[in-house]
Amino acid sequence: MNQFVYNISTKVYFGENQLGHLGEELKKFGTRVLMTYGGGSIKKSGLYDKVVAEIKKAGLELFELSGIEPNPRVSSVNAGAEICKKEKIDVLLAVGGGSVIDCTKFIGAATFHDGDAWDILEGKVDVKKCLPIVDILTLAATGSEMDNGGVISNPKTKDKIGMGFDVMQPKVSFLDPTLTYSVSSYQTACGSADMLSHIFEVYFNMEKDLYMLDTVMEGLIKTIIKYAPVAMKNPEDYEARANLMWASSWAINGFIDGGKCQAWSCHPMEHELSAIYDITHGLGLAILTPRWMEYCLDDTTVSRYYQFGCNVFGLDPSMEPMQVAKKSIKLTAEFLYQTLGLKSTFSEIGIDETNFEVMAEKAVRIGGLKDAFKPLTKEDVVNIFKMCK
Ligand code: NZQ
Ligand code: ZN
Repeated sequence: MNQFVYNISTKVYFGENQLGHLGEELKKFGTRVLMTYGGGSIKKSGLYDKVVAEIKKAGLELFELSGIEPNPRVSSVNAGAEICKKEKIDVLLAVGGGSVIDCTKFIGAATFHDGDAWDILEGKVDVKKCLPIVDILTLAATGSEMDNGGVISNPKTKDKIGMGFDVMQPKVSFLDPTLTYSVSSYQTACGSADMLSHIFEVYFNMEKDLYMLDTVMEGLIKTIIKYAPVAMKNPEDYEARANLMWASSWAINGFIDGGKCQAWSCHPMEHELSAIYDITHGLGLAILTPRWMEYCLDDTTVSRYYQFGCNVFGLDPSMEPMQVAKKSIKLTAEFLYQTLGLKSTFSEIGIDETNFEVMAEKAVRIGGLKDAFKPLTKEDVVNIFKMCK
């Protein structure tokens, strides 16, 4: 087991009717607030009006940046940073899903950078300062509300790059499950596939673990498997939405890592898919995950799948480990494609072999896949992509 530092510094207001605290929290950082949001879901749901009312009540000055895209573009980061510099913004308020929060984190960082925000994503800038981030989460998926990372797309270079800096960690997050009642069944499914992948990226690891963290991860996985279908069937089921929301944060806020330093696998591969084809992140992960599991299964890794199959799906521990492993992959695929109803192949979403080589090359280079659960070369990634056809 490795040593590790635990430092999850985000203050969380969880539950209904907590927006009364918004003004007092924003005020701690100043008076000039830039509110960022996406394509309009918050106006449709009525959240926009409530947030504006709270900001006015607190006597704060409000600026806005709307239209942040799913798979947020670097152009939105630059536009936000420009407003922050010009208007001398004190604090950022992101209202939306992972895309809005991610974009806002980089706006906060780019405000202190003279030049294109893409320099930060290319690793040319050591980010030491960021405007304080407060957020109101509207979609349970990425965990951006409680981690220090974000992922930004550049359509010109067809890149999508993730980076994290301590200073981008949100200061305060408002997590009200009722704000996710309006999330579509499809986005609920994609968000759930994303959360599962965040846990799998850590759980499938051959380093010696803390038993305590393994059981937490298995509990989180079971929570998502139990409640995602409930939320899809009954979008206003508070218990289901609350369980998914809190699971999304804890799947990626650093707690379950326990010092493990293994590179992630499906995420670098998926980011290349959404960089070029602009697909929903969770959908790309759903297609990749069972294939990646199958590709990495061998005599050296089977024990991990055996534990997964027995503890998550309740498979009979007296079965042969390899049999348990294969069955657990099958059950994972059934959950993603049948229960969540997500598409299971690239061809169904318009992705052919054209970019397999270039995507594989970038996934290995940017994602550091040689240090993954099962070290992956460019050829391995192409093979996994082919399994998804
Ligand atoms: O733009 P609006 O109108 O708000 O609509 C959004 C968007 O169309 C809609 N939506 C959000 N909340 C809603 C809602 N619709 C109805 N009711 C609500 N309450 O849902 C659509 C998708 O939103 P988006 O924010 O893109 O989804 P998600 O939260 O899944 O974020 C995906 C992005 O996060 C990145 C992904 O790569 C992708 O770019 N990730 C960020 C991570 C992080 N910060 O740690 C880790 C993840 O692995 C991931 O890579
Ligand atoms: Zn993800």
